[in-house]
Amino acid sequence: MNALNPIGVFDSGVGGLSVLREIRRALPGEDLLYVADSAHAPYGDKSQQFIEARSIAITEFLVSRNAKAIVVACNTATGAAVTTLRSRFSVPIIAMEPAVKPAATHTKTGVIGVLATSRTLVSDNFVYLFARYGADVEIVGQACPGLVEQVEAGDLSGDKTRALLERYVLPLLERGADTLVLGCTHYPFLAPLIQEIAGSGVAVIDSAAAVARQLHRRLEAGDLLADGDRVGTECFWTSGALDKAQPLVSRLWKMDVEVRSLLSDVGVGLNKPV
Ligand code: DGL
Repeated sequence: MNALNPIGVFDSGVGGLSVLREIRRALPGEDLLYVADSAHAPYGDKSQQFIEARSIAITEFLVSRNAKAIVVACNTATGAAVTTLRSRFSVPIIAMEPAVKPAATHTKTGVIGVLATSRTLVSDNFVYLFARYGADVEIVGQACPGLVEQVEAGDLSGDKTRALLERYVLPLLERGADTLVLGCTHYPFLAPLIQEIAGSGVAVIDSAAAVARQLHRRLEAGDLLADGDRVGTECFWTSGALDKAQPLVSRLWKMDVEVRSLLSDVGVGLNKPV
């Protein structure tokens, strides 16, 4: 394995771009490969077996492109597949953890709200966080069906998105939450609207920067850090429709980028529902 090999990052869709931007910020010299499995988003309503199979297939693809580390930029895939990925692949696998720990430190009211997919809220990882920090603070999990779809459709501030967010955020405020954890990587793209609804006295936090720091540590420990003076590149793939992905990824990445089809690059196997 070589320090100049790329880092592979994937998500059920475009949400993981919120993690990718923190990775780019923390590691400017790295080449980054990003897979949006948008043909199968949201993962939240799929079976664990399905999410595991997709995560394995995408990781195989990224490893075949010489990835030196994999970032599972999806809380739902982390909950459903990280143990399997770590047992099957020898490259370091870095995964998400909702920012419950910093939220527990930050809250003054003692109530934190966690916005996530229903699957994340019942995952072992989250149940563990709940047990670990739930004794000191009240942790209120809020499932948010529909939000991933809004981000995938590029609707970050329209009426429907606002109505969904009000439905999910206002009850948490009524419970006394002064800190909101974004437990899904799609949600940071909704952070301005969430902040507007919650008001300036409420902290809205996510774990993307912490994941980028963890990736930095793992690469450093394995002597796999690319020279920070070089200019890293990004490559994007989607399993979804290119005419939708191309403008959406460019908008969220804040730069015109080329998005390739996973289908034409790796053949039908990876794109076929499993
Ligand atoms: N970005 C994914 C996450 O962090 C969305 C999950 C989904 O597709 O349901 O959980």
